[in-house]
Amino acid sequence: MAELIINGDKPLCGEVTIGGRKNSAVAVIPATLLAAGTNTLSNLPAISDISTYNEILRHLGAVTQEPSNGVMRVDTSKATPEKSPPMEMVKTIRASYYLLGALLGRFGYARVGFPGGCNIGQRPIDQHLKGFKALGAEVRTDHGEVVVESRNSRLQGTHIYLDVASVGATINIMLAAVLAEGTTVIENVAREPHIVDVASCLNSMGARVVGAGTDTIKIHGVREMQPTNHAIIPDEIEAATYAIAGAATRGDVTLMNIVPKHLDAVTAKLGEAGVRVQENGDWVRVVAPERPQAVSLKTLPYPGFPTDAMPPMTVLLSLASGTSMVSEGVFENRFDHVEELQRMGTNVRVEGRTAVIEGVERLHGTSVRATNLRAGAALVIAGLGAEGETVVSSIEHVDRGYEHFDEKLKALGADITRVHNGDDEDDSADDSTDGDDPGQVVSFRQS
Ligand code: UD1
Repeated sequence: MAELIINGDKPLCGEVTIGGRKNSAVAVIPATLLAAGTNTLSNLPAISDISTYNEILRHLGAVTQEPSNGVMRVDTSKATPEKSPPMEMVKTIRASYYLLGALLGRFGYARVGFPGGCNIGQRPIDQHLKGFKALGAEVRTDHGEVVVESRNSRLQGTHIYLDVASVGATINIMLAAVLAEGTTVIENVAREPHIVDVASCLNSMGARVVGAGTDTIKIHGVREMQPTNHAIIPDEIEAATYAIAGAATRGDVTLMNIVPKHLDAVTAKLGEAGVRVQENGDWVRVVAPERPQAVSLKTLPYPGFPTDAMPPMTVLLSLASGTSMVSEGVFENRFDHVEELQRMGTNVRVEGRTAVIEGVERLHGTSVRATNLRAGAALVIAGLGAEGETVVSSIEHVDRGYEHFDEKLKALGADITRVHNGDDEDDSADDSTDGDDPGQVVSFRQS
C-alpha cells in the first residue's frame, strides 16, 4: 500500500505532457485478440490497469511485455478463450468486460468473471449482453462468470438500439460485430472520442466500421482481420485533472500533447469560473485567477461534462467564491470523495445526485483515503490546494489511471512524496512501471 504526503498551498506552474487515454487503451488491447499475429500499440499510458490487462492477455496465451516508452507489442497468435482469466485480475478493472466482445467475435466463445473497477453505482452490463444476444450468441451466467457462446454458427449482423448510451456496451458490441456475417447497426451509442479511436483501430485491422462519433454506428462484418500498428489518443481526463489542479492551486499549467477539442466541456466550465484558458494546436494553457467563481454543472455523456472529471472539479469549486451545484447525470453514486473532502474543511452537502458546494477560502491538510480512481485524484488536488500536510492513502486506486502522477506533479512544483507502507509486492511492481518512461514526464517552464 502506498500513500502520498503533500505539503500544499504551492501554485503548480509549468508544462505537463499528457499520456495516452486509459479508456481507449483498455479497449484497444483486447481488440488485438480479434486477429492472430503481432500488433504494435503506441502512446500507451504507464498505469497499472495496462499491467493488469497484460497479465490477463498472457493468461489467455498471448505474448506481451510491459510498454517501453509507451510502445508495446502484443502477439495474439496463440491466444485461446478456453482458460477463463483469474477472477482477481478481472475484478481489478472495469474494462475486463471487453474480453467478452473480443473473444466472442474471434472464437465464438468467452467465459469471463463480472467486471470490477470503481464502485460508483450499480454499473450493470445488461446492454452489452443484450447486444451479444441480438447478434445470435447464447448468454448465461455460471459461478459468477458470464459465458457468451456462438460456436456452431457465425454471429449475424442485426439492428440494436441501446437503452442507455453506454461507452462500454458501444465498444463491446462493436468488438463482437466486426467479424459477424452481414451488417450490424447500433443506435443510441455513446460518442466519446475513444469510441472513434477504437473504431479506427478496428478499421486498421481490416474491419468496416462507420459512424463512430455519431449516435449510430454501422458495422459491415468481414471474414478476417489482421494485426495492426495503432497509436492511442491523448487522455482528456488526465488533462482535465492537471488543468483543475493548476486552477485549484492558483497556478499556470500548460497541458501538452492533447486534442483541445476533447477538453471543451471542461475548459468551458473553467472559463466560467474565471480561469484564463488559451489553446492552440495540441496544447491548452490554464492560468488561475486569485480565487475562482462558483459555477454549476451536470455531468453527461460526451460531449457533456465528463463524469470522470467531476470529483476533481468539486475540489476547485470548494475553493470558489459563491455556491455551486454539481449534478451527477451518469452514475448513481459518485460523491464518496465528499466525506473525505469535508475533513479538509470543505462545505459540501450531497442531496441525492447533486452536491451543493459553498465555497470556502482555505482547505487544511489532514489524512484522507482514496476510495476509487477519480476520488483519489480529487483528494490529491485538495491536498495540493490546502494549507499544511495532507496524507492520501490507498494510492493504488490512483495508480490504476494516472501515469507517474506524483512525478508529474513534482515537476510542476508540488511538494509531494510517495511512501510505501509495509513490504507488499504490489508496491514494488508499481515502482517498475513508474520508472518506465522518464521522457514523458514534463519539461518545466517557469511562468
Ligand atoms: C466507462 C469508463 C468510465 C466512465 C464511463 C462514462 C471505461 C473502462 N470506463 O465506464 O471511466 O466514467 O464510461 O463515461 O471505459 N449502464 C447500464 N447498462 C449497461 C451499461 C451501462 O445501465 O449495460 C449505465 C451505467 O450504470 C451508467 C451509464 O449507463 O449509469 C453509463 O455507463 P457506461 O457508459 O457503460 O460506463 P462504463 O463503460 O462502465
